[in-house]
Amino acid sequence: MPVGAASLSFMKLDEDIAQVLLTREQISNRVVELGKQISIDYAGKDLILVGILKGCAIFLADLVRNISVPLAFDFVAVSSYGADTKSSGVVRILKDLDESVESRHVLVVEDIVDTGLTLRLSYLLENLRSRRAASVKVCSLLDKPSRRRVDVPVDYRGFTVEDQFVVGYGMDYQGKYRSLPYIGILKPEVYGGG
Ligand code: IMP
Repeated sequence: MPVGAASLSFMKLDEDIAQVLLTREQISNRVVELGKQISIDYAGKDLILVGILKGCAIFLADLVRNISVPLAFDFVAVSSYGADTKSSGVVRILKDLDESVESRHVLVVEDIVDTGLTLRLSYLLENLRSRRAASVKVCSLLDKPSRRRVDVPVDYRGFTVEDQFVVGYGMDYQGKYRSLPYIGILKPEVYGGG
């Protein structure tokens, strides 16, 4: 599978990828565009990016280096309890913000907005608003709108993708593949299928 010379050190992980969906270059070009737009929209505002761990880590690191206005960033880790979450509304903050967001403009950074059903994102948005943030918006690298069952706003979107499970550039399958510099689809046999 041709993923470029720079991928030599990823050979072992590459073997599990059936198809490269977004190359390193495509992602990097889009991140530059997102950074420019965010820089325009938040000029003169007290901006704080809030990344939802762990999937956002790579995207956030690249994104902040393409935003030209002053900013801060912080992370939260949010857990939910699978299918029960929808009915119970139970979402737990495992790691809270270190900084106050009061009167600040918050941009929540996600790797992918999928079904929205875990309620993580909507819970977090509500929670941040209750802390009297000046504004709360969402920037997601990927959006899978066909899967959406709960309405969550995505204000900045990197790419829209089909209903496929993807890995790489921060996104994992069972804790693996986050370090891949591109976004790909796993071979079925990796899931125990095929
Ligand atoms: P949602 O609550 O269904 O929107 O799921 C959002 C979270 O599920 C994302 O932040 C990811 O951590 C994970 N997720 C959803 N789809 C994928 C995928 O295709 N690959 C890797 N992780 C995913």
